[in-house]
Amino acid sequence: MPPGALRGREHLLPAGGRALDVACGRGAVAAWLAGRGFAVDAVDVSPVGLAAGAALAPGVTWIAHDLTLGLPVSGPYDVVVCQRYRDPALYPALVEVLAPGGLLVVTVLAEVGDSGGPFRAPPGELEAAFGHLRVLASEEGNGEASLVALAP
Ligand SMILES: C[S@@+](CC[C@H](N)C(=O)[O-])C[C@H]1O[C@@H](n2cnc3c(N)ncnc32)[C@H](O)[C@@H]1O
Repeated sequence: MPPGALRGREHLLPAGGRALDVACGRGAVAAWLAGRGFAVDAVDVSPVGLAAGAALAPGVTWIAHDLTLGLPVSGPYDVVVCQRYRDPALYPALVEVLAPGGLLVVTVLAEVGDSGGPFRAPPGELEAAFGHLRVLASEEGNGEASLVALAP
């Protein structure tokens, strides 16, 4: 079973290709995608998270990078996952690296169903950023927002 935002959405994945896990943490999503046959790049600023990921899936390309500087990779990627990391300035770059028809999965902490604050997306943030894609699912509630979309 895939971790996190991909759970229940396996059927949306292409058969294979390149995948990017943005702010991959300890690499559970990246490792799962690699196990499905994707060539995976995974980016995070945390050496501890990257080391845990590398132990889990040595075949993934683990990239140490501060995402406030932008993405350190170029596409096209058939799958881009950015789960539980929010930086609105990065949203356009997530779209730019998507291959035509590529799948984007984004989840962030959200104000809807929780308190406000600088780390939470205001209502409608993901729709505003990614609504020009072919949105397959968009949910907000319980302090989380998620959006799944296909590039044109
Ligand atoms: C809540 S964790 C989510 C990890 C993973 N995506 C998951 O869903 O399990 C947020 C991740 O963002 C990473 N992160 C935070 N700021 C970052 C930055 N400026 N550049 C790259 N990664 C960053 C953290 O190191 C952490 O692994």
